[in-house]
Amino acid sequence: MLILNRGRPSQSRSDPLLFSSRRVFLNGKPHVDFRKGLNTLFTRNALSMYLGIQENIYKRHFAAWMADPDPQAKEYMMPFRDLNMETSLRVFCGDYISEKGQKDISDHYWLITLALQLVNFPFALPGTKVYNAIKARKMTIKWFEHASAESKKRMAAGGEPNCLIDGWIKAMQDARAERENPDLGSDARRTLVRDFSDREIALAVLSFLFASQDAMSSGLTYLFQHVADQPELLRKVREEQYRLRGGQLDAPITLDLIDQMEYTRNVVKESLRIKPPVIMVPYTAHKAFKIDDNYTVPKGTMVIPSFWNSLHDPQAYPDPDKIIPERWMQGPDSPAQQHPRNWLVFGSGPHYCIGQQYALMHLTAVLAAASISMNWKHEITPTSNKVRVIAGIFPEDGARMKFSPRPAPSPTATPEEAAAA
Ligand code: HEM
Repeated sequence: MLILNRGRPSQSRSDPLLFSSRRVFLNGKPHVDFRKGLNTLFTRNALSMYLGIQENIYKRHFAAWMADPDPQAKEYMMPFRDLNMETSLRVFCGDYISEKGQKDISDHYWLITLALQLVNFPFALPGTKVYNAIKARKMTIKWFEHASAESKKRMAAGGEPNCLIDGWIKAMQDARAERENPDLGSDARRTLVRDFSDREIALAVLSFLFASQDAMSSGLTYLFQHVADQPELLRKVREEQYRLRGGQLDAPITLDLIDQMEYTRNVVKESLRIKPPVIMVPYTAHKAFKIDDNYTVPKGTMVIPSFWNSLHDPQAYPDPDKIIPERWMQGPDSPAQQHPRNWLVFGSGPHYCIGQQYALMHLTAVLAAASISMNWKHEITPTSNKVRVIAGIFPEDGARMKFSPRPAPSPTATPEEAAAA
C-alpha cells in the first residue's frame, strides 16, 4: 500500500490534459447524483439488449481468427483489443458511428493508451504521444456527439432503444415527461431529471471507453491464455456449455443462460483475480483511520492500495497463484466468500466500477461462445508469464495464439464426451 500525505486524488486519477471533463470522477454528492443517472444504463434490461449486439461481433472476429492461413501462432493482444473496441462502440453507440468512423476511433484510441504510459514527455507538442492523444480524443468526442444528436432525434420520434446512448436518452426523455405524468415507471424516476447535452453524453461515453477498453482487453487476453495453458479448465467450461445448451449450439446466448453458467463465470472471476487488469487505484481518506499501532492515516491523505496483494492473499484465496473456479462454488463458509473485501478487481466504495456486471457478462459470453466454436493453442514463450503494463497489464510476448474451427459434436455425445473430443 502506498500512502501519500495530502494527496489530491481529483488530479491524480487521470491526466488532466486528457480527461479533465470526466464527470464520473467527480466526488461527493455531485458524484452520487451523476451515478444515479447512469444506473439505468446497466440494468438487466439494458444488459440483455447489449448481449444481442455483442454475440454477432464475437462470431465475426472468431471467423477472421480461424481463417488466418498462417499455420504459425501470432500475437493476439491487438485482435483481442479490436474485438473489445468494436463491441464497446456498437454497445455504446449502436449504428450511429459508420464503419469508417469506428475504424478511425479504434486506430486512434491506441494513441490515447500510449499516452498513458508511465514514462512520457509531459507537454502536448506536435509529434509527442500526449499531442497525438489529444487529437485522437477530439476526433472520438466528435463521433460520440454525433451519435448523441442522432439518437435524440430518433428517440424523440418514438424509435426503440438499440444501444446504451439510446437507452440513456430515452430514460432522459421519459424523466422529462414524468414531470407532467407522475404515473411513469421507476426507471425514469431513477434518472436525473435534467437534460444532458450532446457534449456531456459524449464525454461520459468517452470515459466508459477509457475505463473499459484497456481493462477489458487485458482481461480477455489473459482469459484466452489461462484456459489454453490449463486445458482442464477449458474442458470443464465446454462440458458446462454442452450441458446447458443441449443440441442448440447456435441459439443466441441470453442473460438467463449466462446466469446458469456458474463454472464458466467463475473461470472468468479467477482469471481476473490472478491477473487483475487494474493493479492500483488512488483513494482519499475522508477521515483519519488506523493502519496499525504505529501508524494512523491522516484525513485527506491519498492511499493507493495494491489490488494485486489483496487478490493473492492466501487467507482469502488458499493456493493463491492457482486458478481454482471451485473456490467460488463452495458455499458461504469458504475462504473466498468469507473475505469479500479482498475481491478488489473492480475497486471498492462509491467509485467502484459501474461497468462491473457488463464486463463480467462480456467476458463470460466471449469464453462461452469461443469454447464451443474454436480450438486454440497458446505458444508459451520465455516472456508469456512476464507482465507488461500499458494502462492495463498484458503478457510481455503479446499472447501468441493459433485458432482453428471446433467441429460440432456428435448428436448422441454426452456433454462429457463432447467436451473431451
Ligand atoms: C474487466 C474489466 C474492468 C475492470 C477490471 C474495471 C476496473 C475498474 C476499477 C478498478 C475501477 C476503479 C474503482 C474504484 O475507484 O474503486 C473502475 C472504475 C470505473 N469503471 Fe471499470 N473496469 C472494467 C470495465 C469497465 C467497463 C466495461 C466500463 C463501462 C462500460 C467501466 C466503467 C468504469 C467507470 C465509469 C469507472 C469510474 C466509476 C466512478 O468513478 O464512479 N469499467 N473500473
